Amino acid sequence: MARLKILPYGDPILRRQAEPVKSVNDDILRLVEDMRETMAAAGGVGLAAPQVGRPLMLFLIDWSLLEEDGAVKAYLNPQIVRAFGKRPAAEEGCLSFPGVRVEVARPEAVEVKYQNLDGTTVTETLSDLPARVFQHEYDHLIGVLLIDRISPEVRAGLKTQLQDILDGRLRPFDPALDKREAEPAEQGA
Ligand code: NI
Repeated sequence: MARLKILPYGDPILRRQAEPVKSVNDDILRLVEDMRETMAAAGGVGLAAPQVGRPLMLFLIDWSLLEEDGAVKAYLNPQIVRAFGKRPAAEEGCLSFPGVRVEVARPEAVEVKYQNLDGTTVTETLSDLPARVFQHEYDHLIGVLLIDRISPEVRAGLKTQLQDILDGRLRPFDPALDKREAEPAEQGA
């Protein structure tokens, strides 16, 4: 298992339409485990495969940060069947946009369809924060980023931060730069 480098805003892979996951083979299982480790190390609530350089229809959400008894779950070939309800705005961040927090308006509920790692197809309705996280991660699979979901005025206000990311002054999680990676895990225990 390995921690992976998270791609920053500006990387063309983040703008691609992801490809379907055709089968849950060893490569996919390893990718899921690596993404799980990366998401935990980076402190993310969700992580999409394109963010680690793999443009596949796959993302993870760490429900333990959102609900009691929640666990990390992998979503394969997810779809948003329909979105409904009001469009409340709430603050979002993204691991590919270090330091950026911005209010994004999204439908408050979504009916979604996806496959589990065991191949089962699931249809369910999510609302509120879970619906928001799912939509944010789904956007990554179709090349959409949170700055596409805000007004030009708000985006203009982020200009300096976005330029800092594009120029590499603000960097997303990178195991090669992360001090924790270099230290023995048992340190402090
Ligand atoms: Ni994101």
